[in-house]
Amino acid sequence: MQKNKFTVTAALPYANGPLHLGHVAGVYLPADIFVRFLRMNNHDVAFICGSDENGAAITLRAKKEGITPQEIVDKYHKIIGDSFKNFDISFDIFHRTSLPLHHETSQDFFKVLHANGSFTQETSEQYYDEEFKQFLADRYITGECPKCHSAGAYGDQCEKCGSSLSPLELINPVSTLSGKTPVLKQTSHWYLPMERHETWLKEWIQKGTLNGVQQHDPKKWRNQVLGQCMSWIDGGLHSRAMTRDLDWGVKVPLPDSEGKVLYVWLDAPIGYISATKQWAQDNGKNWEDYWKGDRKLVHFIGKDNIVFHAIIFPILLKAHGDLILPDNVPAYEFLNLEGEKFSTSRNWAVWLHEYIESYPDKVDELKYVLSSIAPESKDSEFTWKEYQARVNNELADILGNFVNRALVLTQKYYEGKVPTLGSLTAEDEQVLAEMKAIPAKISQLLYDYKLREAQAEAMNLARLGNKYLAENEPWKLVKENPARVETIMNIALQITANLSIVLQPFLPRTAKKIGEFLNFESNSWENAGKSDLLATGHATNKPEILFTKIEDTMIEAELEKLKNANSTSSAVAFPAQKPAASFDDFTKMDIRLGTILEAGKVEKADKLLKLLVDTGIDKRTIVSGIAAHYKPEEVVGKTVAVLLNLEPRKIRGVESQGMILMAENDKGELSFMVPEKGFGAGFEIR
Ligand code: MF3
Ligand code: ZN
Repeated sequence: MQKNKFTVTAALPYANGPLHLGHVAGVYLPADIFVRFLRMNNHDVAFICGSDENGAAITLRAKKEGITPQEIVDKYHKIIGDSFKNFDISFDIFHRTSLPLHHETSQDFFKVLHANGSFTQETSEQYYDEEFKQFLADRYITGECPKCHSAGAYGDQCEKCGSSLSPLELINPVSTLSGKTPVLKQTSHWYLPMERHETWLKEWIQKGTLNGVQQHDPKKWRNQVLGQCMSWIDGGLHSRAMTRDLDWGVKVPLPDSEGKVLYVWLDAPIGYISATKQWAQDNGKNWEDYWKGDRKLVHFIGKDNIVFHAIIFPILLKAHGDLILPDNVPAYEFLNLEGEKFSTSRNWAVWLHEYIESYPDKVDELKYVLSSIAPESKDSEFTWKEYQARVNNELADILGNFVNRALVLTQKYYEGKVPTLGSLTAEDEQVLAEMKAIPAKISQLLYDYKLREAQAEAMNLARLGNKYLAENEPWKLVKENPARVETIMNIALQITANLSIVLQPFLPRTAKKIGEFLNFESNSWENAGKSDLLATGHATNKPEILFTKIEDTMIEAELEKLKNANSTSSAVAFPAQKPAASFDDFTKMDIRLGTILEAGKVEKADKLLKLLVDTGIDKRTIVSGIAAHYKPEEVVGKTVAVLLNLEPRKIRGVESQGMILMAENDKGELSFMVPEKGFGAGFEIR
């Protein structure tokens, strides 16, 4: 096998929230599998990631949580970094785009492009929020989508129809800061005139050539990636602003650019380079070896990142002059969860860090399931039922069962020592031939970025072993034909040793455990397929159970958790805000604390309670529609919010002199508004 050099990147996650299973299945896990495989094949590889800490995604989140952008990125960099570590994602470095090295690197990059004329400077009118004194780009502005007319499209993208937008296209734009209609104001920015690059881009994407020289094989690029790129190019490339008016991010390194930073989609991919620099520095290497010359650059990303990695970043890399372009951009579709899209705002998600915290010993189980359903060519779906079925029926019943049988029988018959391989039957030959063929198939699939099938092929080796033992039934033969059983068990053990190699990219912990049971270790893919990995007489260890079955209770608990998370979230349709009330209107209301002294039913009205309320200034009767929720004896003694100066009115013949204020949820349940300790009847609420 020819040794190649690879720089493999995984999309830098925004440090504005934790990772959920959709991110893992569609970027980080496949990238990790690919890299582990490359390392086993002795390719020279750097595996690069970090957190994306600039841009509006961060500042808006900070505003929402009421802390500074720096605090936001510190918080989520740690959560995300820890969950990668605990999930055995084997980055060579997990860097950050808020670090000085990144700021310098992206500023230098910008300066090179500025100096060689790759940018243009343009002044235009952009939306401006007068209250917050800020220009509104990207997520700072929302409105109706001009394409699909759904509400809530952002200034850079409509999440409903996926169109990429500019703020000026939005219908009825509103500032996400003040909620007000913005005004237009002039500002000056640096633009990337992408239309200049149309010709070479088209050739490079369609044919994989640059000036006629082959760079990559476009047949290995996913259809979705080629399709999105071509539809962008065919739609006409335009100039795109590469800077923003923002106070968080990488400052534009030019004079007279106060208050301007690099567009996050300019600085973030350069983050791959800064991360490489840091890693090279830490390990006595030269970063340029990883971004120049004869090397394959591979970007693992989600489909919403395609144009940035397959069009814009390549333009920037090429404009820089000396840097390599991607060899492939394996992009993943989206993973859904129990029939719906993952949604951070509705908390409809399985969070990686929570899964790891709940099930620290089930990392490989999750990896296996996510790889089995990875959204490689179309959107796919995670359900807890399928998780349970795959772990129980595949990992436990096939892989776990086979490995356990092979090792337990070896303990039982041969005190753990590998028995002799005698003469082979035709069936034995067949099994060994299949075992030999599997690693080459896996290898081909992985180089073609078909990771899902590759893992299935690795599992086929366990299936092969399981079937071999089931058909040969050594436990029945052991008395009458011990020599034959030695051969059968030798073969079963060689298959087990092979599993400890071919499973490594996919299930590193499991592969390691199998190796420990066998007292065998090989990290080299070259050894995969061999039928003499274990010598006769080699001593194996007592095995443990590889996978415990997933109980229904775990699945039920997870489903319950999802249901609850969803019901406490903003998925509820809240009533719209009422028309504005003046401060005067408000101060006309006399709202105070009152203590309920007595409570009784109102005749022939099963919803009403008649209350005697101490308001501090008097004791009065109030009729309240709470009888369906509270019994009279439950409310006596409570101090609650009361509207005193509501005009008295007769309800069922009783005069009510005020109103008890209650909160009502979407299910129509009621709750009193009760004060903290030390607040009694008569105190005002304002
Ligand atoms: N943070 C972006 C996202 O989550 C991905 C950035 S990838 C990079 O969609 F190339 F820009 F780094
Ligand atoms: Zn739309």
